[in-house]
Amino acid sequence: MPALVLVGGQWGDEGKGKATDQLGGSVDYVVKFNGGNNAGHTVVIGDDTYALHLLPSGILSPGCTPVIGNGVVVDLSVLFEEIDALEARGVSCEKLVLSADAHLIASYNRTLDKVAERFLGKRKIGTTGRGIGPTYADKMNRIGIRVQDLFDEGILRQKVEAALDMKNHVLVKVYNRKAVEPELVVQELLSYVDRVRPMVADTSLLLNQALDRGETVLLEGGQATLLDVDHGTYPFVTSSSATAGGACTGSGIGPRRVDKVIAVVKAYTTRVGEGPFPTELLDADGEALRANGHEFGTTTGRPRRCGWYDAVIARYAARVNGVTDFVLTKLDVLTGWERIPVCVAYEVDGQRFDEMPMSQTDFHHAKPVYQYLDGWTEDITGARTFDDLPKTAQAYVTALEQMSGAPFASIGVGPDREQTLELRPLIG
Ligand code: GDP
Ligand code: IMO
Ligand code: MG
Repeated sequence: MPALVLVGGQWGDEGKGKATDQLGGSVDYVVKFNGGNNAGHTVVIGDDTYALHLLPSGILSPGCTPVIGNGVVVDLSVLFEEIDALEARGVSCEKLVLSADAHLIASYNRTLDKVAERFLGKRKIGTTGRGIGPTYADKMNRIGIRVQDLFDEGILRQKVEAALDMKNHVLVKVYNRKAVEPELVVQELLSYVDRVRPMVADTSLLLNQALDRGETVLLEGGQATLLDVDHGTYPFVTSSSATAGGACTGSGIGPRRVDKVIAVVKAYTTRVGEGPFPTELLDADGEALRANGHEFGTTTGRPRRCGWYDAVIARYAARVNGVTDFVLTKLDVLTGWERIPVCVAYEVDGQRFDEMPMSQTDFHHAKPVYQYLDGWTEDITGARTFDDLPKTAQAYVTALEQMSGAPFASIGVGPDREQTLELRPLIG
């Protein structure tokens, strides 16, 4: 089996961590290919709950090798905090491999992320404040600092000085902050060298050699399709390529090696931060979804905005990612509604759109066209096969599958590994 890609099909927090963890036992490598510690994945294994940010969710599967790919932006202080916390709980991180080409989040980019958001005021993006955007901007601007720069002190100093030459003007003159002393940044980064060195590799070479040997590689996306810098609801997006195309550039694996593209979608929709969201509910139903689904951010603790399932978005995710399989999560959260609206199209200024409108202006004005499906009241958290579900829950899933543009491989009925109904195998 060659490489598999797993991405978010909506605006993030679909349950990618749980899905990756479930596949972790059957794959040889799990590779994080984009984003950084803006991600937050909660994985529940029996009585243990783990919150992962920078580490690939495969870290919890002892048989597989977790890899941080070149497309990731790495905050070294967060990396080692996360490793130390996991190791204190008995999870070994010694197999972790880090790409020499991954970019580092320097402290000045954390600062710039936060002050830029404050400066934007009402026009803010609602970022996680982790320095993600400024670090990717530096990468594209060719003034970024990479993992490999840690091993050449002279180069590291030159690069930090070059970046701060311009940034200090911005910090002082635009944002009214103190200038950052380059040497302090250099010394902080150098303090990690000894711990970083043994985990660094040419991860593109490592992964391609593994694929040549017939091993299985799972490429795990952070964020999601509608947060992708190209295909998402720009500018209310993250700064990386969170769609399947990003899996190739973010790992150094060619597209011909990818066999399956899995998108994870919730049985309803959530979003954190600012930006358009056609099915958003600002009423008691929205409150109930948030309460039933525990929809509070793993990274920032912010309440997530909640709304009904949007099949237009699912079809869009199927198209831009080339989805072969959907993983549907959190069906249990919908228990208790008499009828459940599902968005099948949009209406914009009297015109019907069955696909995503071409312009953001139209998307901002999109009103959902709902189809109403029958709900159920039975507790489904103990279901283990599709047949265990009430007939109306089965019909809800079947209707969603028909609207979404690719078959459903599994259905989540609770956060635990066991609370999953497998409809068709993803591996083997
Ligand atoms: P990710 O960022 O895509 O990995 O998703 P998050 O971990 O941020 O958010 C998903 C949340 O839903 C986590 O708390 C999971 O434990 C939980 N979860 C995942 N699948 C299910 C499910 O099928 N039912 C319920 N009730 N919770 C789930
Ligand atoms: P996971 O991997 C949900 C959102 C932020 C903000 C926008 C830009 O857990 O699904 P950034 O800090 O990336 O520059 O913020 O993107 N965002 C996420 N929303 N889940 C995530 O990750 C997110 N990562 C970033 O809320 O709106
Ligand atoms: Mg999350």
